[in-house]
Amino acid sequence: MDLGFRYLSKAETRRLISFLGISIALILVLQYSELPNSKFLSSLTAKITSFTMDTSLANPNVESNNNMNVNASNSSSTNSLAMSPQVTSSVVYNGKVTSSEDNEGDDSVTTASVLAPQPSPVISVYKDEKSSFLQGSTPKIGDNKPVISMNSKRKPSKVVSLSEMNLQLQHSHASSKKPAASSSAVHMEILQAKSEIENAPIVMNDSRLYSPLYRNVSMFRRSYELMEKMLKVFIYPDGDKPIFHEPLLDGIYASEGWFIKLIEGNKQFTTGDPNKAHLFYIPFSSRLLQLTLYVRNSHRRSNLIDYMKNYVDIISGKYPFWNTTNGSDHFLVACHDWAPAETRGRMLNCIRALCNADIEVGFKIGKDVSLPETYIRSAENPVKNLGGNPPSQRPILAFFAGGLHGYVRPVLLKYWENKEPDMKISGPLPHVKGNTNYIELMKSSKFCICARGHEVNSPRVVEAIFHECIPVIISDNFIPPLFEVLNWESFAVFIKEKHIAYLRDVLLSISEERYLEMHKRVKMVQEHFIWHHEPVKYDLFHMLLHSIWYNRIFYVS
Ligand SMILES: *[C@@H]1O[C@H](CO)[C@@H](O)[C@H](O)[C@H]1NC(C)=O
Ligand SMILES: *[C@@H]1O[C@H](CO)[C@@H](O)[C@H](O)[C@H]1NC(C)=O
Ligand SMILES: *[C@@H]1O[C@H](CO)[C@@H](O)[C@H](O)[C@H]1NC(C)=O
Ligand SMILES: *[C@@H]1O[C@H](CO)[C@@H](O)[C@H](O)[C@H]1NC(C)=O
Ligand SMILES: *[C@@H]1O[C@H](CO)[C@@H](O)[C@H](O)[C@H]1NC(C)=O
Ligand SMILES: *[C@@H]1O[C@H](CO)[C@@H](O)[C@H](O)[C@H]1NC(C)=O
Repeated sequence: MDLGFRYLSKAETRRLISFLGISIALILVLQYSELPNSKFLSSLTAKITSFTMDTSLANPNVESNNNMNVNASNSSSTNSLAMSPQVTSSVVYNGKVTSSEDNEGDDSVTTASVLAPQPSPVISVYKDEKSSFLQGSTPKIGDNKPVISMNSKRKPSKVVSLSEMNLQLQHSHASSKKPAASSSAVHMEILQAKSEIENAPIVMNDSRLYSPLYRNVSMFRRSYELMEKMLKVFIYPDGDKPIFHEPLLDGIYASEGWFIKLIEGNKQFTTGDPNKAHLFYIPFSSRLLQLTLYVRNSHRRSNLIDYMKNYVDIISGKYPFWNTTNGSDHFLVACHDWAPAETRGRMLNCIRALCNADIEVGFKIGKDVSLPETYIRSAENPVKNLGGNPPSQRPILAFFAGGLHGYVRPVLLKYWENKEPDMKISGPLPHVKGNTNYIELMKSSKFCICARGHEVNSPRVVEAIFHECIPVIISDNFIPPLFEVLNWESFAVFIKEKHIAYLRDVLLSISEERYLEMHKRVKMVQEHFIWHHEPVKYDLFHMLLHSIWYNRIFYVS
């Protein structure tokens, strides 16, 4: 190395040093990740390197880029002097090479980035120029606009990567900020809980909680314990049925109904004394609001929005609690597509648990909670058909079937319908009773594609988990459920919409060892997505309440 440096000009030296810095960062990532991930990241490193080599020859070859099994340590050390550092930094900072060959094929480097199962320096620099929390931390080179050939009005204007979402979560939970001053007993309890969670005893080996599933298992366990011990929710008695207090327990919007039913029937976490409450619940159903008030074919939702606005006016006039915190200790749980719109205005201050957890429609990471969309076919038995085949009996690599809603699914089918025998990608399946063919396919597939429809969320995410099929989420700007607690990258695959062409490569690049580990994790995370008529520890009722509690404690606006 020393010998090499002497012959380089100053500028080249600087570039070389920055490249070496990046290489070291990559090596650090490799060291800090656990075994299956390291292998995975090695392939990522290798891929970036091999891609750079190709680009420096001004002849990008998509086929060779797709080879993700290059020996990483070998290539990153031996090749570093041979390649153009200019191109390297452009690849690393932008996630793509901005050149005249700007088409989907050139994006294979970012395909690798979506694979990385752990937050890493490489990914965290995939930034948007407007994200202020990263301002100044990385150079801006080129533009970072998604390169997509498909056209749709609904396409997000800005794509937020999962690692940026992680940063936003950290940022909005930053403990350095001073919380609002207040000396109420409830406020002191919240501060006490916060401090206890931040200083949680380290959990080395919890028999019940498998640590890779969580962002921080120690904090989660402590926070959950404190919730069980302390949390009190005041449910506003105001509001008429059916929009308020009425649980709808089946269908694709059932999550909000189950929550209403279970919290209203709960003694442990509720209080009739609002002065003792840490949280205030607005018990409405977004689905029943739509069913009750939407005028068919009117294409107007303003009456629904006004209805909710009026409700807030009523409770904030009648009780002092809204005004005390401007609604920030109030929460709602709503699964219908329109819920983000219905809860705009003053309700934006509330903690909103939403199925339609879309950054594009105002979801605030660290405050709002991504509510799992659970498709309940039988309210009597919400866990009907739970389970799936063991890994050895899953001959299908990837499965998707469904209506062609939205702009992503037609692209998915264009690339993958009837293309490979082990990929079952199709439109809706022929109808059979109980949807048994669909469920059988999920049970015998390794990966289940959860592509966005009209909205970012899909019941497939939870269905895949139920049938022990690894969810492959193709939905830009979708915040995955219970995001503040779960380490989604450890048991799911995220692919950007613009990378659908690489779906197969991405899945094939996942080693058998890593697949088996992910399968095990999906099985273990299942309990968090299940509704029970009588709630049990760590089930969806508790996890949802916990996420709301956790954001109540940690969110700093
Ligand atoms: C990578 O290369 C090194 C040395 O070139 C070798 O020892 C190692 O076994 C290789 N690893 C893989 C996974 O091929
Ligand atoms: C390491 O690099 C050399 C050339 O630089 C190449 O011939 C060899 O195949 C590489 N090893 C692996 C395991 O990729
Ligand atoms: C988890 O949180 C605890 C308490 O804040 C902290 O001491 C620990 O280092 C964290 N663990 C990880 C793996 O981040
Ligand atoms: C964790 O607990 C299991 C049994 O519950 C035990 O077999 C294993 O050795 C423990 N691991 C550590 C690191 O303590
Ligand atoms: C809360 O503030 C609003 C004005 O923003 C006011 O109209 C209302 O009367 C206040 N509520 C109470 C209970 O004082
Ligand atoms: C309360 O929140 C609204 C936005 O919903 C804001 O306009 C208003 O200034 C806030 N009031 C206080 C006292 O912070």
